[in-house]
Amino acid sequence: MRAWITDQSSHAGLSFREVPDPPQREDEALIQVQAFAPNPGDLAALATAEPGSVPGWDGAGTVLRRAPNGSGPEEGQSVIFLGSQGGWAQMRSVPTATIAVTPNGADPALMSAIPVPVTSALRALRGLGSLLGRRLLVVGANSAVGAAAVQLAARSGAHVVAIARDQAAHERVRQLGAAEVHATMDTVSLPVFAALDVVGGPHLVAAYSLLAPGGTVIALGHAAGHDEHFPFGAFVAGPTNFDRTISTFFLGSQNGLGSEMEYLAAEVHAGRHTIGGLDQRSWTALGLWVGDDSVRSPNRTVFLVD
Ligand SMILES: NC(=O)c1ccc[n+]([C@@H]2O[C@H](COP(=O)([O-])OP(=O)(O)OC[C@H]3O[C@@H](n4cnc5c(N)ncnc54)[C@H](OP(=O)(O)O)[C@@H]3O)[C@@H](O)[C@H]2O)c1
Repeated sequence: MRAWITDQSSHAGLSFREVPDPPQREDEALIQVQAFAPNPGDLAALATAEPGSVPGWDGAGTVLRRAPNGSGPEEGQSVIFLGSQGGWAQMRSVPTATIAVTPNGADPALMSAIPVPVTSALRALRGLGSLLGRRLLVVGANSAVGAAAVQLAARSGAHVVAIARDQAAHERVRQLGAAEVHATMDTVSLPVFAALDVVGGPHLVAAYSLLAPGGTVIALGHAAGHDEHFPFGAFVAGPTNFDRTISTFFLGSQNGLGSEMEYLAAEVHAGRHTIGGLDQRSWTALGLWVGDDSVRSPNRTVFLVD
């Protein structure tokens, strides 16, 4: 099969090659990959990936060969999947625990944008318990994870206070269900029940400062790439700011994601959950896209595999 493999001698750190088909374990389905949408985590992991390995976490495709132990979807079914490596290839083997069947007629390009960001948003929000009637801060609301969190939280009855640095994105974030949209946290005056932050750095510090007693910030992402410096007093509790916590999140440590991915695929296919505009390209253009920021578009990029 053809695949992208890590190759530090090439410009992008990737080479397009003919490689052996992937082995298949007892609990793995062999999947024909139709589309994948690289995540920031995929790109960050390239630097430390084993030379000659196939990167890529998630995507959409069809089952070529069912798992030998009989678990998971049958041959020919359309699926989305999560896995720690091997996705940027024509075929990959994936544990059936992280595969979900997609609805008949679902667009593989759209489906491939679901697994990591949307499932992360759903799982992280679940950890906060009921959001009904509560103020939830989403920091980085125009990101893939943030946009999913805004929609899921609004549908759960939260009053979503969204932060998106780009004013041009504010109308879109409002349409996704945010009750308030701010460019910075300086204009958020009332405390929030909880926060989900994908930006990190000073944003995490500011989100923590807005928590009501008992509130939690989920530090899900660190897109800004900045350190966090908390001022003296940030962790001194008083009558208005006791029992506040910061919690980390890692999708890779979450079990049983298949049913949630299946639910999300159905919601996206039915138009009840919005992914947003996609920039669709041939997967042969992946190396150029990874190696050169200037060819990237603001929309989520999906690569179609032939
Ligand atoms: N912990 C986990 O298991 C897990 C799972 C999924 C994702 N993540 C992490 O979550 C983060 C978001 O992922 P994603 O897929 O949603 O990424 P994404 O769609 O690429 O979005 C990144 C967002 O960060 C914003 N941003 C970047 N630098 C910023 C800065 N200096 N100040 C303010 N905003 C800034 C961008 O704002 P603009 O829209 O204005 O450009 C964009 O909205 C990443 O760090 C990713 O690695 C973690």
